[in-house]
Amino acid sequence: MDQKRVLLIIGGGISAYKSLLLIRLLRGARIAVTPVLTRAGEEFVTPLSVSALAGHKVHSALFDLGQEAEMGHIELSRSADLIVVAPATADLMAKMAGGRADDLASTLLLATDTPVLLAPAMNVRMWHHAATQRNLDALRGDGIHVVGPNSGDMACGEFGLGRMAEPDEIMAAITARLTDGPLKGRHIIVTSGPTHEAIDPVRYIANRSSGAQGAAIAAALRDLGATVTFVTGPASVPPPSGVQVTRVQTAQQMLGAVMAALPADGAVMAAAVADWHVSNASDQKIKKTASGLPVLEFAENPDILAEVSKGANRPELVVGFAAETQNVAEYAAQKRLRKGCDWIVANDVSPQTGIMGGSENAVTLITDAGAEEWPRMGKTEVAARLAARIAQALGAK
Ligand code: CTP
Repeated sequence: MDQKRVLLIIGGGISAYKSLLLIRLLRGARIAVTPVLTRAGEEFVTPLSVSALAGHKVHSALFDLGQEAEMGHIELSRSADLIVVAPATADLMAKMAGGRADDLASTLLLATDTPVLLAPAMNVRMWHHAATQRNLDALRGDGIHVVGPNSGDMACGEFGLGRMAEPDEIMAAITARLTDGPLKGRHIIVTSGPTHEAIDPVRYIANRSSGAQGAAIAAALRDLGATVTFVTGPASVPPPSGVQVTRVQTAQQMLGAVMAALPADGAVMAAAVADWHVSNASDQKIKKTASGLPVLEFAENPDILAEVSKGANRPELVVGFAAETQNVAEYAAQKRLRKGCDWIVANDVSPQTGIMGGSENAVTLITDAGAEEWPRMGKTEVAARLAARIAQALGAK
């Protein structure tokens, strides 16, 4: 591989110290680093430590505005294979989303035609603020890649989403962007969201799945280079960009879409599929009558996970989910054997966990080697870890 070059913009946040570790990881992987330090970034790490680690002079607002003749910002913005912003503060993200260019970093980001990866870091409330989430959606829509943030204790004493991703996670995201990705050439089917089972033309039976975890998994697999077929029920979270989307309503339609998408190297069944459909669903809207309440009869839906796991065209790796409200690991282990899949990602969806419909997940990964409990973390982080494990497993076969 030709030597790759990363333009690293270090914003002003306490996690800027982790960017020093990131520079070491990049240099260790023989990736050249051109550092840019924002004015606020200079309050957290010094230009001297950054330049010493990077082995390259630091471009800072004042320096570069005075040295335009030496290397113009346009040229600087295009001199790299990837621009990484770590930490990406709420302010930097807002500037990017608004297309502002009032300092060197924001000018470079506006002038570039190079892919950009952000590692956001901020206080939990700033992260969850509607404005930041709006900016995030806009940036994703512009094709900007994002790694993290993670959940945990924060320097400001609060707890939650907003910690910058760890240097090795950012490094993995950078490597995936700079190379073809370990899942290049692999086709993976991901199911997501709830299903809707009709009672009559206007009413249906559904469940509380938002589709957030499935969408995050599809995006993480895409980021590792996989070709993803995303089969989704009527979810409230939009499907990620860069994947092949098939929208369905019912379990029966989801089965049809999954079977039509085979063959595949992997399948991740994150959908919350209804176990039953109404077998006496009415063609017309059911009316209130004096003769009493309607009686619904149910018939079992096909088990998509079991059919794929036991079918002739079985992918190399089949991953199921188990939504449980009690005895999570035990029920999930039984489910793995019963359905014939390789792994089960089990989670506790009791209402008090806030997992179904929430932004975090606490999962146990069940494989033939046993149960592995992961700490509670953002759904994006669960997705990134799971995708990395899938890449490992498919790579090893
Ligand atoms: N699943 C499926 N088709 C179904 C039901 C479930 O493919 N008709 C898949 C889900 O996508 C998930 C896994 O099976 O990957 C487990 O789903 P879950 O709802 O936890 O299991 P159930 O089959 O409903 O089992 P139980 O009734 O014992 O909870």
